Amino acid sequence: MKRSKMEAGFSKKLLQWDKQENKRDMPWKREIDPYKIWLSEIILQQTRVEQGWSYYEKFIKAFPTINHLAKAPSKKVFKLWEGLGYYNRCKNLIDTAKIISKTRKGKFPETYNEIRELKGIGPYTAAAIASFAYNLPYAVVDGNVERILSRYFAISAPVDSTEGKKLYADLAAALLDKKKPSAYNQAIMDFGAVICKPKNPLCQQCPQLEDCQAYQNNLVSALPVKAKKKFKKERWLYYFIIRTGNNVYISQRTEKDIWQNLYQFVLLESKKPLQKIEISESSFIKDIFRGEDISTEKISELYRWQLTHQTIHVRFIHVAIPSPILIKEYFLVKMSDLKKYPFPKPITAYLDRL
Ligand code: ADE
Repeated sequence: MKRSKMEAGFSKKLLQWDKQENKRDMPWKREIDPYKIWLSEIILQQTRVEQGWSYYEKFIKAFPTINHLAKAPSKKVFKLWEGLGYYNRCKNLIDTAKIISKTRKGKFPETYNEIRELKGIGPYTAAAIASFAYNLPYAVVDGNVERILSRYFAISAPVDSTEGKKLYADLAAALLDKKKPSAYNQAIMDFGAVICKPKNPLCQQCPQLEDCQAYQNNLVSALPVKAKKKFKKERWLYYFIIRTGNNVYISQRTEKDIWQNLYQFVLLESKKPLQKIEISESSFIKDIFRGEDISTEKISELYRWQLTHQTIHVRFIHVAIPSPILIKEYFLVKMSDLKKYPFPKPITAYLDRL
């Protein structure tokens, strides 16, 4: 079959499937407020719908408009984001809300190019907002869309190569139903989540089965192709919960790293597991305590935390000191105030268990 005919068939069957079979419901579906769409799309970057759903509802309730979000103290916004991961998204959300609130009186931009210029908004998110809010003809292209196109047309160009990225983007733009960009974009996202799933796709329920070149050539599980294998890094984090009276030392993570902007206890990080003696004899510990009178009250078990590209091992060491000392970059807060600060999930999970 000719490529152009396959393209027309794909879009038509996709919209038919959406109308007749697609039962997927989500709170942001058919939403046309650009602020709410933006919020949902930022939450859903690198996050599963099931996980993002309740965060979206919490955010909409706490900040019904972009001006509410812009006015909120950032600690409060981070606290609401706690547990979602990739905290830079939250920082960008706050910065962008402030800019739109200040320079545009809270009115979201209405063209693709202006939306694309906002911090934290790439081509995918700009296309989602432009199409869902204003029905503008921009095709969304994310991992779901690339997977569907790679299979339907049996394209072996790696989805993570420059060549592949361009190919899938051009093809997605050609396939978009220009009269119904909003419905089409939402339909292809749902189709990727419900039918053409990464693992165990439901080919027997797929309306595209006859024309799907991967299915017809027994290539479904081989596509899409990825060029690079992601290497998983391992890290060991030793957190010292250093208490003096009813106060404890914390700091904010400012580095461009996991958990950016969240708070933490006094941290000793290592690329390999450390023995007790290696910790107590480390220059890190000696520099902090300088022979002070300290007592180790408790050492937790070693917890394992799996992130997408890293495995984190965390241990907590409770230490009490008789009077406050100066610890560079760390400051004292009341134990009873700890819950006001956003912490990484392994820390909140540990505190909850105490
Ligand atoms: N993932 C990202 N955006 C989405 C959307 N609008 N619908 C479903 N899943 C999504």
